[in-house]
Amino acid sequence: MDGLNCDPMSFDKECELTNAHFHKNKKREDIKSHHYIISYDPADVTENGLTGKRAQAISLELAKQMKCEKKQIIAGYRDCHTFLREEFEAAGTLYIATEDGSVGTKGNVMDAIRENALEADMIYACGPTPMLRAIKKYAEENGIECYISLEERMACGIGACLACVCKSREKDAHSNVNNKRICKDGPVFLSTEVEI
Ligand code: FES
Repeated sequence: MDGLNCDPMSFDKECELTNAHFHKNKKREDIKSHHYIISYDPADVTENGLTGKRAQAISLELAKQMKCEKKQIIAGYRDCHTFLREEFEAAGTLYIATEDGSVGTKGNVMDAIRENALEADMIYACGPTPMLRAIKKYAEENGIECYISLEERMACGIGACLACVCKSREKDAHSNVNNKRICKDGPVFLSTEVEI
């Protein structure tokens, strides 16, 4: 486990001190979000038990909680190791894309959307930036409301250091530039709000 501008073994104390310094989050209910898992490192598998499967579980949880008439889940994998497949199938209609073509559509999630002629009123996406970029473009071209979950290396986690900004269409009231702080303003954004 590694840390950026913090010691992973004492980050909780550092968070507390940073909050106190900026007079933020004095009460538990004030806390908006803390991103303790900042990025996925292959070493985390052995060091912390954080696997791709556990990361995918976040998307599964959203799929389970969504209440809508028709749920289409499009999951991208590298190969036939389609972890959480049964759980995804129980949560909605599952379409799989694999890079090696061993299961479902050969290619990425956008290939699966095209191959199955999938249509949607709303899209929620989480994953690597090139994938999010493609989904954002597709959603905007087709007039679909789309929410994307962004990841960035973070330092303070409370919106003070600007280490995690992404480009935004509108000027941010905090910094008066075209930025959004992923830790504070996100991490989920309407696709039309941000440039990625
Ligand atoms: S991590 Fe400091 S502003 Fe987001």
